[in-house]
Amino acid sequence: MDDHEFGGVSTDLKLKLIEDYLTAFSTALRPYFSELWYIDAFAGTGVRTVKHKAQPETLFMPAIEERMERLRGSARIALDVKPPFDRVVFMDKKKAHCKALEALASSYPNRRIDVVKGDANDAIRAELAERRWAGKRAVMFLDPYGMAVDWSTLQLIRDTEAIDVWYLVSLAGLFRQASHDPANLTPKKKAAITRMLGTPEWEDAWYARETKTDLLGPVDETHQRIADVAAMETFVEGRLKSLFPKVLPPLRLRSDKNVPSFSLFLAISNPEPKAIGLATKIGNHILKPKLSPASRHTSGR
Ligand SMILES: C[S@@+](CC[C@H](N)C(=O)[O-])C[C@H]1O[C@@H](n2cnc3c(N)ncnc32)[C@H](O)[C@@H]1O
Repeated sequence: MDDHEFGGVSTDLKLKLIEDYLTAFSTALRPYFSELWYIDAFAGTGVRTVKHKAQPETLFMPAIEERMERLRGSARIALDVKPPFDRVVFMDKKKAHCKALEALASSYPNRRIDVVKGDANDAIRAELAERRWAGKRAVMFLDPYGMAVDWSTLQLIRDTEAIDVWYLVSLAGLFRQASHDPANLTPKKKAAITRMLGTPEWEDAWYARETKTDLLGPVDETHQRIADVAAMETFVEGRLKSLFPKVLPPLRLRSDKNVPSFSLFLAISNPEPKAIGLATKIGNHILKPKLSPASRHTSGR
């Protein structure tokens, strides 16, 4: 199987949070629900390969050869959660990744595991269309590389009133697509952002015209993006809050170059106060210690 290298310094943290949430969720809800499910819509292979670069010899240390480390990815982590989920669904659009997921599933012969090959939006739509949610609860993990999750997909998840969703939002993707100079904002880029956020309102919120004047009147007009990463994250948070009954403050994740690249959100689709209370308690317990002032810039929490 091909090695699946992805993520950076924040990936371990992200996967640890997911693991802790899944464990707490399945422990707390086990007595009350006959079916607890986990749906991983960007499942990968179950393995995360980390390449450690070769290091040259120094005065104090001998040279170190390049080495590959194989760690558990989200799919494998979910299968190891105790008490176990009653059904686990893995989705991925890459054929080789689905093959790896099927091999992983075969090493858990007594578990109900479905592997679905396809675009996550289509696969989620098909999965949710067939289901009735009475007596069931689920956690879904949306872990795309970029901006692959459509707003209409989030609406379907919300409509179940039964799924807690961990959603990794690509701030880097939004920042790249929303080019600083609006002249470079092509119709394709605009459509991608609108598909992800479910509204064209981001354009008015993120861009402004500024007119410089001198004694004789206006001399220069510029039209440019005024939103920084924090403003974009706040916009995304507002959008999610307009859809889900509860959204926890996100955890900002940074790249290896210390650039803010992703925001990890927990959104709860069940409007019942009891369900919100429990998911919030677990989510806060897991997220709060990680929310340093450096990782949070939005206000009001
Ligand atoms: C960041 S990786 C997921 C890593 C995984 N959560 C883990 O911890 O091992 C993103 C995965 O999404 C898959 N993918 C990319 N675009 C997709 C799409 N539109 N629908 C479904 N899967 C997609 C990729 O093949 C890749 O396996």
